[in-house]
Amino acid sequence: MAFDKILVLDDQIIIRKSLEAQLSSRGYSVTTAKTIAEAEVLLNQDQFDMMFLDFRLPDGKGTDLLEKIADLPNSPLTVIITGHGTIESAVNCIQLGAFDYVVKPWTLDQLNVIIKKAEAFSQLLKVNQYFSNQLQKNSEILGLSSTIRHLRQLIKKVAATEATVLITGENGTGKELVARELFRLSPRAKKPYIRVNCAAISENLIESEFFGHEKGAFTGAAQRREGRFELANNGTILLDEIGEIHPSLQVKLLRVLQEREFERVGGNKSIKINVRVIATTNRDLQKAVEKGEFREDLYYRLNVFPIFVPPLRERREDIELLADNFLQSHTRKHGIKLSGFSEPAMERLLDHNWPGNVRELENTIERSVILSESGQSVKEEALGLMPRKNFQRVSSPKSVPKDCALEDSSNGANGEEDFDLALLDDVPEFLSLDALEKEHIFRALGKTKGKRNQAASLLNISTRTLRNKLKQYRLEGAMPF
Ligand SMILES: Nc1ncnc2c1ncn2[C@@H]1O[C@H](COP(=O)(O)OP(=O)(O)OP(=O)(O)O)[C@@H](O)[C@H]1O
Ligand SMILES: [Mg+2]
Repeated sequence: MAFDKILVLDDQIIIRKSLEAQLSSRGYSVTTAKTIAEAEVLLNQDQFDMMFLDFRLPDGKGTDLLEKIADLPNSPLTVIITGHGTIESAVNCIQLGAFDYVVKPWTLDQLNVIIKKAEAFSQLLKVNQYFSNQLQKNSEILGLSSTIRHLRQLIKKVAATEATVLITGENGTGKELVARELFRLSPRAKKPYIRVNCAAISENLIESEFFGHEKGAFTGAAQRREGRFELANNGTILLDEIGEIHPSLQVKLLRVLQEREFERVGGNKSIKINVRVIATTNRDLQKAVEKGEFREDLYYRLNVFPIFVPPLRERREDIELLADNFLQSHTRKHGIKLSGFSEPAMERLLDHNWPGNVRELENTIERSVILSESGQSVKEEALGLMPRKNFQRVSSPKSVPKDCALEDSSNGANGEEDFDLALLDDVPEFLSLDALEKEHIFRALGKTKGKRNQAASLLNISTRTLRNKLKQYRLEGAMPF
């Protein structure tokens, strides 16, 4: 992070002048002050990236100013100017929040090193701030239903503890959001929050991702690297989609959970850590245990405090609030002004079964915002949802011919009992086969989050056939996303 403005506070004119000359020649804009009082005025007027601060000043000690600016947002990184006799006091200043100290007389190279270090540190702080802001954004769990109210209370209670939490629920229900909220409300909120997506990391890399590796541990391990557990030390680790973790790693994970200790890949030194563990899964882990796919001991270690996030169709009272909220955020994002939902559109939203839950609702709203005319309301057609009147809900999956079930739970996730729109014999004649096919394809894509090969395999067609059909729909202007 290249600095721009630097403040020099010293009562000796020779120091002020030499620093000013050295720093200006490097392109920094330098302001000088002789007293703490003068510096305070300048600090209130302007924002400085860095400050060189003399230790003894006519109207007080440098430490007095350090204490005053400690709580200011955007206070400058401070370097104490010190002589040999006062190095010890300068070190004390670092305890009070100074970044570093420079000993008189300094060389140009020493000055350069300090500024470079300060710039790198300032960038790290800003990056950290950026990620922490990202984390806070969209972290509110919206919902008025009693289940969501209960969920919020539960989160508050468990957040205060150190208990390992296992969050379960279908795709898109908000498990990650719940995990973030648990972190945000916990005593560890100011400490690191590290997420590992267990489903996204290949089997041969995951051990090193979790525990890090030593230099030369395997081909390509050019240097030592800390794993996510080490990065999360003193903070929280989120093991996202833990159900996907390979059995070979389950044993190693169990040991960390039990002993809070591990070794880097290729290393033999035990590393102790203090982390709070949160895990999520959309798999029925108990069933996975029964099938021998998930270790029972690991399951019990994770399932200390289970939190279930209910599917959206079981809390329909929340749909309107969520839809309005997503409408607001996406109209802002796309710079489109809309006057809400038309009545039929809202009815359609309330009526849909949302197999992809809140994520599907959000995607539907974003799509509809893009497709709607500025200044008007969102019309039913813009939602791209199949009119429900053409379908009929069936109560039991057994009554649905297998091929006709529109909602397939290929991964054994929760909710497989509840078929949403199942094609029945009495579908009205006016429903074209084309329209049905389109809806079926879009829903498969919704379920696989847009992944075409997975959708194609759900639909039992080749990826190429799927691609051609999508191309055709796009030509017809019928692509809802
Ligand atoms: N109650 C809620 N209020 C506001 N936004 C929500 C709510 N629940 C979910 N969302 C939003 O829906 C999207 C999906 O949520 P999230 O990623 O937490 O789901 P998930 O259960 O982890 O899904 P998956 O199993 O697919 O990983 C996110 O953008 C999230 O912010
Ligand atoms: Mg998730």
